[in-house]
Amino acid sequence: MSLNILVVGAGVAGPALAVFLQSANPKHNITIVERYPLLRVAGQQIDLKSQGIPILKKMGLLETVKALCVAEKGADVVDTNGKLVAHFGINKAAEGGQRGLTSEYEIMRGDLVDVLYQRSLKQREEINKELGTEGTGSLTYEFGKTVTSLDNSDEGVDVNFSDGQKKRYDLVVGADGQGSRTRKMAFGQDGNDEAFNSIGVHTAYYSIPRVEGEGEMAQLFFSTGSRFVMTRNSDRPMTQVYLFIMKDSERFRTVHRETIEKQKEVWRESFKGAGWQTDRLLAGLSSCQDWYAHEIAQIKMKSWYTGRVVLLGDAGYSPSPFTGMGTTASLVGAYILAGELARNGKNVGAALENYNQIPRPPIDECQRMPSSVGKFFPTSKVGVWILNKSAWALAGLRLDERIARWFPAPKQETGWKIPEYPELNLEKA
Ligand SMILES: Cc1cc2nc3c(=O)[nH]c(=O)nc-3n(C[C@H](O)[C@H](O)[C@H](O)COP(=O)(O)OP(=O)(O)OC[C@H]3O[C@@H](n4cnc5c(N)ncnc54)[C@H](O)[C@@H]3O)c2cc1C
Ligand SMILES: *[C@@H]1O[C@H](CO)[C@@H](O)[C@H](O)[C@H]1NC(C)=O
Ligand SMILES: *[C@@H]1O[C@H](CO)[C@@H](O)[C@H](O)[C@H]1NC(C)=O
Ligand SMILES: *[C@@H]1O[C@H](CO)[C@@H](O)[C@H](O)[C@H]1NC(C)=O
Repeated sequence: MSLNILVVGAGVAGPALAVFLQSANPKHNITIVERYPLLRVAGQQIDLKSQGIPILKKMGLLETVKALCVAEKGADVVDTNGKLVAHFGINKAAEGGQRGLTSEYEIMRGDLVDVLYQRSLKQREEINKELGTEGTGSLTYEFGKTVTSLDNSDEGVDVNFSDGQKKRYDLVVGADGQGSRTRKMAFGQDGNDEAFNSIGVHTAYYSIPRVEGEGEMAQLFFSTGSRFVMTRNSDRPMTQVYLFIMKDSERFRTVHRETIEKQKEVWRESFKGAGWQTDRLLAGLSSCQDWYAHEIAQIKMKSWYTGRVVLLGDAGYSPSPFTGMGTTASLVGAYILAGELARNGKNVGAALENYNQIPRPPIDECQRMPSSVGKFFPTSKVGVWILNKSAWALAGLRLDERIARWFPAPKQETGWKIPEYPELNLEKA
């Protein structure tokens, strides 16, 4: 049974889903609309862990991704004078658990988005070669386009697009990230507000030219005033800057709806004189091309679908960047959604209900985090490690407490194994 499917958002989840859908049924008609005018390859380092690894392997992409991994060796915590106060080593993905900041498979977000996008195009080419384009399905990306409204029912979805086009689909997949407008349209403002769980932290990411001394180690600086600054470089010509602030939430929430220039102004003002190299990092802010700032939140929903609209990835279950599990969760979701659609044929409702249930354990696990990052977590492995290894260096700094606030207690993995879907025909990949 081939379906007419609309995917909103060409981030990580959208193109990954397209790869699985095409592989399961080359006759599906898949359209991906992306609001951004081109493939949006911004973003910093993202982690691939747990079930994300076997899924990439099934796609035949693990080696490609490994080759693109960044060469970060760990993280150093520095004080305002740049003096080393603590060091974390690399964390082996295969052993599970999150012991350090750096996980074994760490890749720039843009590289992963591009790998998945290219794979979907290559697969489309192979399908067209094999079946011919006449009478078969298709995969179409449309950039600079979004959905403006939708009319949803158990039979299908009528969609209005920003370019004035109208179309009907068997299924609409909202893969449009944490701030998903598909979520708002399908579940209403109340459903959206209920799903959105702020962590009370705002963050900004951008890149500046690297200077000497920035290399394999991430550098973390805990400033006063609930501010935290991090730089990461690995082996890249540009240094990634991360700013985090855990106060003035309302002010940042408001400014994040305004222009990038306005956002930069408020962030610059809030971090001025924060210590360490902050002023140099702020100087690079005006000319950066990849500014991205948002409120850190988790998305939690009892149901990830309504009628024939289903949410995928951050749109439905963002675990927040604090967990480092967003990419893994979106790959698990894409795999299971495609697998269930393949298994249930024309019974799309049954496929959606299974998708709503089967990946709950790993996704709950991805989201596991203490209820408030603002609390002190004495059980945090990182906190314990700091206390044990360098209590002397931290005397009076209460750095253990500050670290624990940003890097919550690591979770116990349940060892949930991905189900097998022979229907996805992945062995040929
Ligand atoms: C620019 C950017 C930078 C990021 N940087 C980091 C990072 O440094 N660290 C980290 O842990 N996570 C980051 N994330 C989040 C991370 O990509 C996700 O947690 C994870 O990979 C799951 O991906 P996703 O595809 O569900 O969502 P996303 O990766 O957020 O992708 C969503 C896509 O949908 C598009 N979109 C949004 N709204 C609409 C709309 N209305 N219509 C059409 N398209 C729309 C977006 O432009 C984007 O391409 C970033 C996300 C983005 C968009
Ligand atoms: C398949 O998608 C393409 C591209 O959006 C569209 O032109 C075509 O009409 C669709 N076919 C069907 C059967 O819906
Ligand atoms: C599409 O927009 C028109 C108005 O331009 C509106 O009447 C119609 O209800 C909309 N359709 C959907 C599916 O939202
Ligand atoms: C502290 O470090 C010592 C020496 O490395 C180690 O034996 C001990 O188990 C550690 N304690 C904790 C609580 O991590």
